[in-house]
Amino acid sequence: MTLQKQLDAVLARKRLTRINGYAVVTDRLDYAEIDQVFPIYPEQAFFLDEIVGDAIEGASVLEVGVGSGVLSIGAIRAGAAKVTALEINPRAKNIAGFNIVMNGFEDRISIVDGAADVFAPVAGQRFGYVFSNPPFEPTPPDHPFFYHSAAGPFGLDFIETMFKGLYDVLEPGGHLQIVTAAPGDEAGPFMFAELAAQYLKGPTRIVSSPARLDYYEALDWLPEKGFFTVEQTEELKRMARARGVTHSHLCVLHHHYDGSDVSDVVMTTSDKAYASPEIPFE
Ligand SMILES: C[S@@+](CC[C@H](N)C(=O)[O-])C[C@H]1O[C@@H](n2cnc3c(N)ncnc32)[C@H](O)[C@@H]1O
Repeated sequence: MTLQKQLDAVLARKRLTRINGYAVVTDRLDYAEIDQVFPIYPEQAFFLDEIVGDAIEGASVLEVGVGSGVLSIGAIRAGAAKVTALEINPRAKNIAGFNIVMNGFEDRISIVDGAADVFAPVAGQRFGYVFSNPPFEPTPPDHPFFYHSAAGPFGLDFIETMFKGLYDVLEPGGHLQIVTAAPGDEAGPFMFAELAAQYLKGPTRIVSSPARLDYYEALDWLPEKGFFTVEQTEELKRMARARGVTHSHLCVLHHHYDGSDVSDVVMTTSDKAYASPEIPFE
């Protein structure tokens, strides 16, 4: 078999996506095992558009949850000096390594084994820019789901863990950027904003795409795909109704660590409408 045929055979079993002028390999959408390496959706495009150039230029960066490596590669292309990327999924580490080499950044991005105690693998280190597209899917308690998705009944548990440990890893003057799908009402992702106000001190801005989803319709695909039972999904819906949740918002959070001890969270809407997070990016 020629090298080209070998490469073609590998890529035929994967999904190759071009985004912002570079290419990454991910799992295909029909790879439905728990260790699926997250395909490219509009959320990665939203994240990349929102990178703060001045803050990332020359920065030492930490990514939580590298997946295919798409965001770490984007961070280097945006001017980061180097990226330390945490990951718990063994298949993601393999595929991210492939993409990092394919894009020529093997000397600038290091993949480090992640842990349940999210920042423990980088204890004692600080970074000028910390970012993540964290596990985000509303998930019944103790349900394994996909590595990239299990995140508690409102999809916010992983983010809360990151907020709790943030100031141990973010340098004073540094920047936090998170992209996620967050529960809220018609006006915005209020549950995400409340969580940010509880933990983050100093200026925080949550930018939402105008293309929001009906929260309950978004939950319905879980039993349809056989991930959860109808009863588990109904319980998630009951909890959301009790909190006044109506919509899921694709959004990006920016936080600047300015040393202030007062939280200051504002919600805004992006000019560009990113498509539904349920539709993979082509
Ligand atoms: C929503 S995916 C995002 C992947 C990639 N950054 C992207 O945007 O396509 C979340 C990633 O976090 C990883 N992850 C989950 N728990 C983790 C942990 N405790 N530490 C590090 N990574 C984790 C998952 O395996 C998954 O690859």
